[in-house]
Amino acid sequence: MKPNLRFYAVAPFGLEPLVADELSRKAPGAASIRAERGGVYFEGTAETAMAACLHSRFASRILLLAAQHEYWDTRDILEAARRTKWERWFGPDQTIRLDVSVRNCPLESVDFAMLRVKDGICDRFRELCGRRPSVDRRHPDVRIHVHITYKQVFFYLDLAGESLFKRGWRLEHGEAPLKENMAAALLALAEWTPEKTLVDPFCGSGTIAVEAAAIAANVAPGLHRGFAFEALDGFDAEVWREMKEDARAAVNLHAPVRIAASDISSIVVEKALENARRAGFGAMIEDGRLTFSAVDAREALPPEGAEPGLVVANPPYGEQSNPKSASIRSMMKGVADNLKAHFSGWTVWMLSSDRSLPSQMRLKESRKIVLFNGPLECRFFRFAMVAGSNRRKPAEDAPSA
Ligand SMILES: C[S@@+](CC[C@H](N)C(=O)[O-])C[C@H]1O[C@@H](n2cnc3c(N)ncnc32)[C@H](O)[C@@H]1O
Repeated sequence: MKPNLRFYAVAPFGLEPLVADELSRKAPGAASIRAERGGVYFEGTAETAMAACLHSRFASRILLLAAQHEYWDTRDILEAARRTKWERWFGPDQTIRLDVSVRNCPLESVDFAMLRVKDGICDRFRELCGRRPSVDRRHPDVRIHVHITYKQVFFYLDLAGESLFKRGWRLEHGEAPLKENMAAALLALAEWTPEKTLVDPFCGSGTIAVEAAAIAANVAPGLHRGFAFEALDGFDAEVWREMKEDARAAVNLHAPVRIAASDISSIVVEKALENARRAGFGAMIEDGRLTFSAVDAREALPPEGAEPGLVVANPPYGEQSNPKSASIRSMMKGVADNLKAHFSGWTVWMLSSDRSLPSQMRLKESRKIVLFNGPLECRFFRFAMVAGSNRRKPAEDAPSA
């Protein structure tokens, strides 16, 4: 089918190229894919967008462009909203919620502009059928995202509803959990594949381990949740049912994999276990392909008999637990000593907002990638644990850029 719709996949800063590549592989029909800071434009059909929602491990949201207009003032915005064919997607008996983002917006009051958008939508429905949708901020049927730039206003329909990083399995939080799409991105950037042993010695609520298990078992990230597009017209329920059926049939919970997650806190480890079970990986836990244990990262060991693989983790860092930062620094030195002693031949990746992490660990990173964990600017450091070759000389122990 010809691509006839325009979409925008919202992506965490730094993950845009991953989202673009993922759309080209997993969203059949995705065309004219173009990444920019904060998201990825693409074209396709309603099916393309359904597949993107179901299969994207990295995107935060998928938005459908309903209309785009030039404007001068808020009267133009009202008129633009009135001219948009909302009835193509939803009806007057559905509830709506409006959210806004701006870039170089010259308007004095964005709130007033939003009121105008709502008025325009309601006017259109009143004129068409004598009824109008009402606003429900908490449980809307339809989420409309308005983006206002210097000269243009964009009306998007949010196809995800809840943000896509919410896969539906997490109830239990540890300290400062990673979002699921960020955890999946760390695994992709580290080039982890299920045949490589994976160790996360700071597992917290288990996000990295559970995402890895989902990748190994080929569980589509959206398989266990609902999406806002299900309440919209134009998204064929039968096609969606079949798409989910195919995704369900593609799951292989018996896939060989070895994932070892641990954390110093036994309470946190219990929560991670519950999360992993809720995500459907009970069988992996029972037969030891996925393990969670309460161990200090300074004493964590590779799983017995495992070939050297990857360590992927986000250790605690200063901003998250300020009073502890001095002790974190000395702890990371102990963690590095343990890695040097027991993980020779492994590749270690650590996400931290602390740029001095390599010097704390007396290691020279072989690569670093700038990423944002929420609002926090972080570095994803790679250390190749080749015995003796990556140690810093004492004089080099300065904070890295
Ligand atoms: C930033 S959180 C990790 C969050 C995790 N990636 C998630 O998504 O939930 C850091 C974790 O390190 C754990 N931790 C702190 N010191 C530790 C140590 N010495 N050994 C192992 N874990 C430690 C904390 O209990 C916390 O759960």
